[in-house]
Amino acid sequence: MNILDGKKVSNDIKNEIAEIVTKMKAKGEKVPHLAAVLVGENGASLTYVNSKVKSCERIGFDSTLVKLDADITEEKLLAEIEKLNTNDAIDGFIVQLPLPKHIDEQKILLAVNPDKDVDGFHPTNFGKMALDMPSFIPATPFGIIELLERYKVETSGKHCVVIGRSHIVGRPMSILMSRKGFPGDATVTLTHSRTQNLEAITKEADIVISALGVPNFLKANMVKEGAVIIDVGITRVTDSEAPRGYRIVGDVDYNEVAPKSSYITPVPGGVGPMTIAMLLKNTLLARSRHNQA
Ligand code: GUN
Repeated sequence: MNILDGKKVSNDIKNEIAEIVTKMKAKGEKVPHLAAVLVGENGASLTYVNSKVKSCERIGFDSTLVKLDADITEEKLLAEIEKLNTNDAIDGFIVQLPLPKHIDEQKILLAVNPDKDVDGFHPTNFGKMALDMPSFIPATPFGIIELLERYKVETSGKHCVVIGRSHIVGRPMSILMSRKGFPGDATVTLTHSRTQNLEAITKEADIVISALGVPNFLKANMVKEGAVIIDVGITRVTDSEAPRGYRIVGDVDYNEVAPKSSYITPVPGGVGPMTIAMLLKNTLLARSRHNQA
């Protein structure tokens, strides 16, 4: 069993980007600038956004946090997005999800300039990704691809079973794993809440990518010997003994499944840290494309 160490790899990526930024500064070039829009005070979103901003500082990017009240109108939020779209100092920005219920998420994501959409959530980027055109790939799927690449995990001709069809992880992951090239060239099965006899399908998988959000869902009897296991779950579970009052638990019953696997991502320290690293990578990409525009 080998651990796919997202903590280490994400640190490597951040160091690589920091080195590039140092060179940019030395040449007097503008450094990448990421903005994040946070609406309301959702605890998890606040943690994620703060950690995105902190990572920017660490690697020498400029960053801006746009904090807006939970009761902001859709119109005003659209106006804030337009400001970021037209502000030439900003290379890329994200709107942290979920948004409050009175706001139409699709309408907001459609308003983001695709050239600054470093989350890769705009239909233009999603479509380009599906058609193998240069685009921004959503950070979590991009992070999984990067892990498979850096650990040289064989994917060609393998049966990859994705659990969960979310727009942010499952759906894009299924597209990326079936693309030509490495990592890719896999035979993909995308499973979801209406899938019948999931266990029979996961048992046949060479690679399981679980993005379900149900703690300890995937058990040893659901996977075959030597499978590659990617756990995207990050559910907060109340734990009075944990320092913050909760623990982060993955979709995979790690203690059971790890001994059977050839490669596995731990939670925490697997896919999670990769997401921020890939967002930074996308922002660097946005900066260089912005330069060429
Ligand atoms: N909410 C959960 N994951 C994400 C993400 O990757 N980007 C944004 N903007 N919001 C999220």
